[in-house]
Amino acid sequence: MSTLVTGIAELVTNEPELGEGPLGLLREAALVVADGRVAWVGPAAAAPDADRRVDLGGRAAVPGFVDSHTHLVFAGDRAAEFEARMTGTPYDGGGIATTVTATRAASDAALGDRLRRFAAEARAQGTTTLEVKSGYGLTVADEARSLRVAAEVTPHTTFLGAHVVPPECAGDRDGYVRQVTGPMLAACAQHARWVDVFCEPGSAHAFDGDQARAVLAAGRAAGLGVRVHAGQLGPGPGVLLGVELGAASVDHCTFLTDADVDALAASSTVATLLPGVEFSTRSPYPNARRLLDAGVTVALATDCNPGSCFTSSMPFCIALAVRELGMTPAEALWAATAGGARALQDVSVGRLGVGATADVAVLDAPSFVHLAYRPGVPLASTLDL
Ligand code: NIG
Ligand code: FE
Repeated sequence: MSTLVTGIAELVTNEPELGEGPLGLLREAALVVADGRVAWVGPAAAAPDADRRVDLGGRAAVPGFVDSHTHLVFAGDRAAEFEARMTGTPYDGGGIATTVTATRAASDAALGDRLRRFAAEARAQGTTTLEVKSGYGLTVADEARSLRVAAEVTPHTTFLGAHVVPPECAGDRDGYVRQVTGPMLAACAQHARWVDVFCEPGSAHAFDGDQARAVLAAGRAAGLGVRVHAGQLGPGPGVLLGVELGAASVDHCTFLTDADVDALAASSTVATLLPGVEFSTRSPYPNARRLLDAGVTVALATDCNPGSCFTSSMPFCIALAVRELGMTPAEALWAATAGGARALQDVSVGRLGVGATADVAVLDAPSFVHLAYRPGVPLASTLDL
């Protein structure tokens, strides 16, 4: 069964050879989808026939958003922590323990139901690829089940046993790292594609450079790809460590040294910016211009989690990136689609060229620029083909 999608006022393909600029933008375009893949793309006037026709009536279409960083396996609520932050209490990751207690007490079914609701919420806003991390279980059994639950919803699962040191291990941080790199990794690796660590040496809760290296090296030796939470609360060794270990992505990058930027620019590691975090923690935003001008590949993601940022909206993050990080609307859209795909090393998504997965987000607007121009307006939805 093939479907011809017509009436596309503006189509972003992210294939520069298909249209204008880095977004490969086509006007008055059409798309043919067959067996879940893009079979043809080009000017509407030249479109071939198909079994079925969908008319977008002059709306814009873009690749479905790739949200390459979320923490959506959790129970409980931290609205009170957010409320306190808005009157001056700083974010330091300490609230993660509250979510760990609630998550450990929840059933697999409750965690799975909630995750599926979040995935549907994201999809309704145009997100078609979702990465999901563990990190609120922090025991062998609770991390393994978090990943089992996540794997029912997405293939892009990340083992984050080294999110924080759980309270019961506070007196023996290195002992906890040995647990993570030993039995926890052994139980989790089969359910995960990636390993991640919250590397933040100045934090009382997260991990220093040596501990982060141990976690990432063990994950890599177990066959997992590397990602790092780095430079969220202050500069640290996480970015250089990630680049050295061939990380697909280092995430947050709010505080970067010149050496970090140079190392990223000379590598294939993506810098994933999460501006919803700065919004929701009342913190200074990262400088995307500094990264883009140095030639670093930048992705945008939500970081959706109950503590530092509880939004599942990629359009909101695009609007923030344009308004607060210094990105153009085109750079922000690219980062939220093709950039996310690079951060997950999945070339089948984040673009709409022939052979790509037919993940299409439709905008109730004539141009992708409206994603930033009309902040907070629910313009994006997912086209079911
Ligand atoms: O990416 N920084 C560490 N982890 C999450 C926050 C988790 C939480 O506060 O519950 C983040 O911001
Ligand atoms: Fe995160």
